[in-house]
Amino acid sequence: MTAHLPSTTPAVIRLTRYTRTELSEILGDGPDPFGVSWAGLTWLDKDEHFGIKLDGRLVAHTGLVTVPLSIGSLETRAVGFGGVAVAPDLRGQGLARIVMTAALEHARTIGPRYGLLFCLPHLLPLYERLGWRQLHEDVVVEQPGETTTVMPLETMWTPLRDGAQWPAGGVQLRSLPM
Ligand SMILES: CC(C)(COP(=O)(O)OP(=O)(O)OC[C@H]1O[C@@H](n2cnc3c(N)ncnc32)[C@H](O)[C@@H]1OP(=O)(O)O)[C@@H](O)C(=O)NCCC(=O)NCCS
Repeated sequence: MTAHLPSTTPAVIRLTRYTRTELSEILGDGPDPFGVSWAGLTWLDKDEHFGIKLDGRLVAHTGLVTVPLSIGSLETRAVGFGGVAVAPDLRGQGLARIVMTAALEHARTIGPRYGLLFCLPHLLPLYERLGWRQLHEDVVVEQPGETTTVMPLETMWTPLRDGAQWPAGGVQLRSLPM
């Protein structure tokens, strides 16, 4: 059943902890809340967490973590976005936009020129609507045991500085994916 948002725009707060408990509060206790377990990947924890609470209940989240990457011969960093989640009964009412916008505003103050995220193909149009662009390059990511793999999900990026363009060249994330 769909619940309705209050008439005023909900505030985004910084969360001091975001564990499986907080994730379950938003998405429930299912075994594969993001639908990506088929990829068999190990993911990087996020360092900073943005959330929305309604009547004391956590209903939306976006996490950020700065990751090193190389693009062609360029060694740089990106702000990785992950764990984007909205409670099922409150979807389609702009909560992802609100929490992503706050996280993006913060990401613009950290330093890297690019935001980066991985998503399932059906979410490409949603993130495009939020200003993200699909990256058509393969992205190599690290996995445990000093192995690497090509990211099987879609990759999207967004400029964190005015006029930032994605450089040409092969893309390698020098960390676990977020
Ligand atoms: C993905 C998810 C976070 C979206 O949350 P949401 O609150 O329903 O999203 P919003 O209502 O804020 O929608 C964001 C924007 O995308 C647009 N949008 C949504 N679905 C769309 C679609 N299929 N095509 C184009 N635009 C779409 C919305 O209209 C909105 O744009 P607007 O503000 O200009 O109207 C939510 O469905 C979820 O938690 N899914 C499960 C977890 C998950 O898969 N997370 C993503 C990990 S990468």
